[in-house]
Amino acid sequence: MILYMGADHAGYPLKEYLKDYLAQQGYEILDVGVYSENPADYPDIAHTLTAKLVQETRPALGILICGTGIGMSIAANKRPGIRAANASEPVSAALAREHNNANIICLGARVVGPELARATVEAFLRTGFSHEDRHHRRVQKLELYGGDGASHTD
Ligand code: RB5
Repeated sequence: MILYMGADHAGYPLKEYLKDYLAQQGYEILDVGVYSENPADYPDIAHTLTAKLVQETRPALGILICGTGIGMSIAANKRPGIRAANASEPVSAALAREHNNANIICLGARVVGPELARATVEAFLRTGFSHEDRHHRRVQKLELYGGDGASHTD
């Protein structure tokens, strides 16, 4: 599993923490930045990461981190094929995968500490889409109403 990771300045330290941990767990990490705590605009990072994620042909998910996770999730969901979920705890993170087939988790570094962030990401990564008919239908409607008409990731 490939993990695309990105953060703005507020999320940078948490990105580095999670990146080290997840690399140790065997994930292949593709870090799109930022690479310091210099001020950065979260839409730029979300734009870059989502472009790469929808073009990725291998199994891949994304992790985006800003101060609250809100800016990153709003920005990421602009791109067709992206279903980005802002989550602060493991239950929401798991259900975002199981029910919504989310392909990006957004975290708020000013909201969650490193341990809770780690547990939240782990729940996201170890949970798969349920593929039950009702969930499949609802996710298809997200694509339909998004004007996309095609699913880029599954
Ligand atoms: C940056 O100060 C902050 O606004 C940003 O990280 C994020 O929280 C926006 O949603």
